[in-house]
Amino acid sequence: MTKFLLAVHVLAAIVAVGPVTVAASMFPPAARKALAAPEDAGAAGTVRLLHRICQVYAAVGIAVPVFGFATAGAMGVMGDPWLIASIVLTVLAAGVLLVLVLPRQEVLVEGRGARETTVQLAMFTGMFNLLWATVTVLMIVRPGSTTGA
Ligand code: HEM
Repeated sequence: MTKFLLAVHVLAAIVAVGPVTVAASMFPPAARKALAAPEDAGAAGTVRLLHRICQVYAAVGIAVPVFGFATAGAMGVMGDPWLIASIVLTVLAAGVLLVLVLPRQEVLVEGRGARETTVQLAMFTGMFNLLWATVTVLMIVRPGSTTGA
């Protein structure tokens, strides 16, 4: 059962967080291009599509902490410091995505943003990527853990 839960947890991280990382990273330059060429319907379409990918896969990404907690419960590692640190960083990453990244993308999709918005967005997207990459390393290294390799 633990192996099944862990497999779903890791699959969800790959399938959901991966696309968000790529689409969110592509968004600021795409938005800049669309701002520079307002008559280019293709550029606006790309920006809309990238935002949609971020939204949909962020929702699918809820499976990552859900199955993460289920795995931690089954393994009896709920109080481990590496896990608590991962949970805090996951909450921070989700907060950055929901509060700082997605609303700014929306502003740009609706044509209300400026070049400055794309610069801020690139910074917050970088923060999001760094946070969840740190969580992934913590999940694999598990400093202080005596379970597994
Ligand atoms: C609330 C948040 C999370 C919890 C409670 C959680 C819990 C866990 C647990 C208990 C394991 C098993 C570790 C072991 O084998 O000893 C694990 C593994 C793993 N988690 Fe998470 N996780 C969370 C978030 C994340 C996030 C955000 C990512 C990446 C986007 C992630 C990626 C991974 C990976 C790649 C492994 C496999 C590590 C390995 O077995 O070597 N987890 N997680």
